[in-house]
Amino acid sequence: MARRYGMKTPSTLEWDGRCLELLDQTRLPAETAYIDIYTAQALREAIMSMQVRGAPAIGVAAAYGMVLAARTITETSFKAFLRALNKEGEMLASARPTAVNLAWAVGRMMDAARMHGRMPQLLERLEHEAVTIHKEDTQNNRRIGELALGLLKDGYGILTHCNAGMLATTQYGTALSAFYLAQERGISLKAYVDETRPRFQGASLTAYELMQAGIDTTLICDNMAALLMKQGKINAVMTGCDRVAANGDAANKVGTFSLSIVAKHFGIPFYVAAPVSTIDLACSNGSQIPIEERSGEEITRIGKTCIAPEGVKTYNPAFDITPAENITAIITERGIAWPPFRESIKTIV
Ligand code: MRU
Repeated sequence: MARRYGMKTPSTLEWDGRCLELLDQTRLPAETAYIDIYTAQALREAIMSMQVRGAPAIGVAAAYGMVLAARTITETSFKAFLRALNKEGEMLASARPTAVNLAWAVGRMMDAARMHGRMPQLLERLEHEAVTIHKEDTQNNRRIGELALGLLKDGYGILTHCNAGMLATTQYGTALSAFYLAQERGISLKAYVDETRPRFQGASLTAYELMQAGIDTTLICDNMAALLMKQGKINAVMTGCDRVAANGDAANKVGTFSLSIVAKHFGIPFYVAAPVSTIDLACSNGSQIPIEERSGEEITRIGKTCIAPEGVKTYNPAFDITPAENITAIITERGIAWPPFRESIKTIV
């Protein structure tokens, strides 16, 4: 199939009507390899192993996963079909617990099925919904970038954590969208990229996609942020997000919280960029957001090399919660939310 090489970075995912093609992000930046996904179960495994990752990307992938699941359901009554599809949706949604976009996409696909209300053309309706979710993701990210760019100035140094770029979405990204739009408009922004232990999404994905696009990119270790801020190199911090609670507390890749504390110390604006689908009003505050814990091997090994004593105890939470009071603004496709977030978020969702 023809793959889109948008802005030189290969597409995160493509749907060809038969299967979902995923760019295997565990092999970047060394290799550009795609895997073909034909079943919802195979997609679940790809999400868990992080071949596809990033909140919006796993949401869009799950929408297509629901189409693949629906095609395997043999029930002929509408009610039984819905029950079976719901089970597949729960299986997909449980792949990773923190990014609410995953459950959001599954829920939207279920709503589309319920609203269709009958068996004929149901599969076509579901495919249409998944394609719509995909298209909306790209449009939303561009809008987020436009709004974010309005908060930045030519020559700014911007620190980002993890990967909230086009590889974490279908195009542009959320936190990185402003970099791509700035480039289109001849505005120069400098990207400072945290390597992002333990899985190095900053080094292997963010630095990769920004450099592919020719954006001024400097990679740093996670523990260098305070020094760079003290040196005056950072004018703003811009991160993505996996779930925003009703009070503005935001879950993102572990390390984001400490970055927010340091930014506050230096009076540097800390922006969170996320689509509205990342906002979860069912969580009143960040303590209600489930935090994924991953294998300790992500800490003790780098590739095949063991870097810690055999048998050492580990603790590997994949995300942390940045409290609302450390966030300057939350940038969504429907507008920018400013504190107090409990009020401003309500006007956006
Ligand atoms: O564990 P990952 O790589 O899926 O974590 C990704 C992040 O933390 C991103 O910042 C977040 O999903 C937002 S992506 C636009």
